[in-house]
Amino acid sequence: MTLLRVNNLGVDFATHDGLVSAVNGVSFELDRGQTLGIVGESGSGKSQTVLAMMGLLAKNGQARGEVLFEGQNLLGMSTRELNRIRGNRVAMIFQDPMTSLNPYLTVERQMTEVLELHKNMTRRAAKTRAIELLEAVKIPEAARRVDMYPHEFSGGMRQRVMIAMALLCEPEVLIADEPTTALDVTVQAQIITLMQELQRDFGTAIVMITHDLGVVAGLCDRVMVMYGGRVMEQGSAEQIFYQPTHPYTVGLLGALPRLDHDGDTLVSIPGNPPNMAHMPAGCAFCERCTLAEARCHSERPALQTLEGGILRACHKSLAEVSQLKEMSHVG
Ligand SMILES: Nc1ncnc2c1ncn2[C@@H]1O[C@H](COP(=O)(O)OP(=O)(O)OP(=O)(O)O)[C@@H](O)[C@H]1O
Ligand code: SF4
Ligand SMILES: [Mg+2]
Repeated sequence: MTLLRVNNLGVDFATHDGLVSAVNGVSFELDRGQTLGIVGESGSGKSQTVLAMMGLLAKNGQARGEVLFEGQNLLGMSTRELNRIRGNRVAMIFQDPMTSLNPYLTVERQMTEVLELHKNMTRRAAKTRAIELLEAVKIPEAARRVDMYPHEFSGGMRQRVMIAMALLCEPEVLIADEPTTALDVTVQAQIITLMQELQRDFGTAIVMITHDLGVVAGLCDRVMVMYGGRVMEQGSAEQIFYQPTHPYTVGLLGALPRLDHDGDTLVSIPGNPPNMAHMPAGCAFCERCTLAEARCHSERPALQTLEGGILRACHKSLAEVSQLKEMSHVG
């Protein structure tokens, strides 16, 4: 059985401006030990997708569809049932570690509480385990630092503490929402290496949200490209990087700083993401797509499976996107 299968996930928010469709028709599968990257510009629905999966949407939000973890739908569960899975078998790490760390408790107390609750461990055994985990995420002098409060750690170290917390119960799925964005490049690289090692050692499946395509290239097996709350393209990391089939992916790759061009300026895609309260009738990307034709504005392209398992939602032919790719010096 597939470890995690998300079917047609949607998220709507009730707002003063009407119903905001933040996520629409997102589907993917994840097996043990695999990593899925979710990429897209700011506001494309990445965070709301994973928050919906974890039952953590804001009060005005409503999720639709199915999130099957070992065949059980997380979306239909009561909070009590969900709490047996959340933080235990499916864990999440955030961009800001203080979202999941309690500033008033020592790291030891936070970690041992989780183990006492989910694993019925004694406080003493739990503390030993907590120290092991802090060592696994390469916190120096873990046995001493375990008794410190979160604010006594540096930003990068706090991020590691959060990862150690998330791994306490050896979750089958780890969801990471931009865990390295706030850190400097060196620490970022260390954390990514750490996640790779943890995946190798624990066989954890990872869902990794990032707008850093470099992180995706280093870590992910499959990549889902989102825009306007919808999936534009999905494929292996290699397909997405070297043979993108969607104009939005081509735009994103074109926006990477390029070392082989003069300077390393970041070229962004001209224009702004759509207003999610008033989505275009057709393709979400139609206002900014250089290939857009009349039908793109009126008819929503369906997500179709291509040869090689690529999924893409676009009216244009592969040949036309290929031309665009050449013009953008991508691939
Ligand atoms: N509580 C809310 N009420 C209304 N709209 C919301 C709410 N929370 C999020 N949204 C909207 O959902 C959309 C998707 O947001 P989301 O946080 O998933 O983007 P993202 O892809 O994670 O972006 P970023 O890269 O900036 O984190 C945004 O347009 C946002 O304004
Ligand atoms: S469907 Fe049309 S607007 Fe959307 S990405 Fe394809 S060509 Fe561009
Ligand atoms: Mg986000």
